Amino acid sequence: NLPKVFVTRRVPEDGINFLRNKCVLTQWDSDDAIPREELKKRVKDIDGLFCLLTEKIDAEILDCAGPSLRAVSTMSVGYDHVDFAECQKRNIPVGFTPDVLTSATAELTVALLLSVSRRIKEGINAVKDGSWGTWKPLWLCGQGLDGATVGIIGLGRIGFAVAKRLMPFGVGKMLYAEYEEKDYASQLPAEYVDLDKLLKESDFVLGCCALTKENTGLMNSAAFKKMKNSAIFINTSRGGLVNQDDLYQALKSGEILGAGLDVTSPEPLPTDHPLLTLDNCVVLPHIASATMKSRNAMSELCARNIIEALNGNIMPAQVK
Ligand code: GLV
Ligand code: GLV
Repeated sequence: NLPKVFVTRRVPEDGINFLRNKCVLTQWDSDDAIPREELKKRVKDIDGLFCLLTEKIDAEILDCAGPSLRAVSTMSVGYDHVDFAECQKRNIPVGFTPDVLTSATAELTVALLLSVSRRIKEGINAVKDGSWGTWKPLWLCGQGLDGATVGIIGLGRIGFAVAKRLMPFGVGKMLYAEYEEKDYASQLPAEYVDLDKLLKESDFVLGCCALTKENTGLMNSAAFKKMKNSAIFINTSRGGLVNQDDLYQALKSGEILGAGLDVTSPEPLPTDHPLLTLDNCVVLPHIASATMKSRNAMSELCARNIIEALNGNIMPAQVK
């Protein structure tokens, strides 16, 4: 009797190929997110749930699934959309997909940082709309990384990978804020500081942490006020880290120089959102892990997590 696994979206084939023959597979085979009501129906009596960061997996969904559910795995490193405590209460292990997306995510973080710091969006627009005119010594001057102080909020797998990639640009000083000091930070080297010091001293502030209750809205007007007027804020963690109204004010008033966001709240960001009217703000549609290699590996790891758990084993990447 093969276990039943439900996949909430069309996902890269490595995960599907792995699941095939190991379970009875059903799938919301669409590029669009499954409506909540549909999800509630589809999870009934399944053994394993393969989900994405677009699905809120809470007590209601777990109730709809019923007691057969023995594995939840999300094809993402972030799992703030999964009620882990509820899953624990029901002895349902939760899987996620760290490591396999670290390079891709770090790379996109660097790309986003450079596109803001070197004003790439304004440059592209000027070429297209004819306002280029001539080479101008004072035009589109940005901030370089050479000699700069970079502050990383969350020196985990991704934060560390970002820092490693930025060092060769000639970064002068690397700071990080975390809930605890990390011994591997000495390899960079990066200095452990409190958030206040990081905000005050950094030329670049990077959000690379997991979203928690404690850090929701952390980047608010008080935080932006502490930052230098010449500083740039980059976020590739979760939109919830930022108070977007406060960010808009900080960018508009010159409290900070620029921002780059790969994550927003909500997603998608409405096309009439004020942040999108600003030249000094680059917004991307949550694509940090979007390389074929990374997405395939995420899909396969997510599938492995489920099958291992259904076989009574610890998941290869299980939330602790
Ligand atoms: C993407 O944001 C992820 O958590 O994998
Ligand atoms: C956080 O997302 C990490 O992987 O470090």
